[in-house]
Amino acid sequence: MDSLATPPKADSGSRARNLFPPPPVPEPGKRLHVIGGSASTSLAERISRELGNAPFAIPFLKRFPDGELYVRVGGRFTDEDVVLVQTTRTDEQILELLLLEDAIREAGARRLFVVIPYFGYARQDRPFFPGEPASARTLARHVELVADAVVTVDLHSSETLRGFHKPVFEATGVPAIARVLRERPLDLLVSPDKGGVARVRRMAELLGKPWIALEKKRIDSDHVELTLPPSGVPTLEGKSVAILDDVISTGGTIVEAARLLHREKVSTILAACTHGLFLRDAFERIKAVADHIYSTDTLDNPADKVSVAPDIAQILQRECASL
Ligand code: R5P
Repeated sequence: MDSLATPPKADSGSRARNLFPPPPVPEPGKRLHVIGGSASTSLAERISRELGNAPFAIPFLKRFPDGELYVRVGGRFTDEDVVLVQTTRTDEQILELLLLEDAIREAGARRLFVVIPYFGYARQDRPFFPGEPASARTLARHVELVADAVVTVDLHSSETLRGFHKPVFEATGVPAIARVLRERPLDLLVSPDKGGVARVRRMAELLGKPWIALEKKRIDSDHVELTLPPSGVPTLEGKSVAILDDVISTGGTIVEAARLLHREKVSTILAACTHGLFLRDAFERIKAVADHIYSTDTLDNPADKVSVAPDIAQILQRECASL
């Protein structure tokens, strides 16, 4: 497919050909194309590389004078499968995703797999008070209207999965974060709350390290209180610890966890998360209390040093391709 905005190709001269082997030639009719929405361009390109240099393109986007969004994908995908990657953090990104889905179908795609690295609205996964929507379900239903399958990463809760009628696959950022933590001297893994126990336990298994979960009481959306669990806490003094969370939003949880661990005289603190929102001055506040900050690339941010592209590509190849 020709793209309206395909990234520049590598030098096609003989020297380049000698140095880099050509990408695998896809079987006719079975090519997987990757389209990167504006919220996830870098990750989409990484996924295309993980898929054996699958054709990658970014769509043309512009705003009409009245502010409405215009999108266009180049070429035709007749009888080909397309992967669309777009995080849905903002309302604009959601609308872009829905318009792109329709554009890709109009361009003849046989099947459309939508990758939503960070699934926005997942926290309102049910009505908490009368008169509220189940926002995550609403988003799920609209995305799957045109998609054949959806791949996402570390949802806020599994309730969101129940909002889908079509196949949905949830990757986790744990293996990606493990790839970077493995390179660091580390004594202990810490979950800032009990909700993160499954995650920290999985990481502990991958790294062969002990773990604890703190007790967390949320005061309001910006403030939390954290305490050590009443029992089973090893000596923390002089230890190198990694705090592991699914989302860093205001940073309040990680900052409080780090302060608590500093009071216990740990030597080094690493803060790691799957989804790094880093609202307002969260990044600077965490930098002041942690020695290293790591996030996956489900959202673009200053700490997105580890990629979930291999994990997403694996699901696309193993699960989606066989649907
Ligand atoms: C809570 O359930 C999540 O696992 C995170 O701990 C939370 O979203 C982090 O938010 P913040 O950075 O605002 O404390």
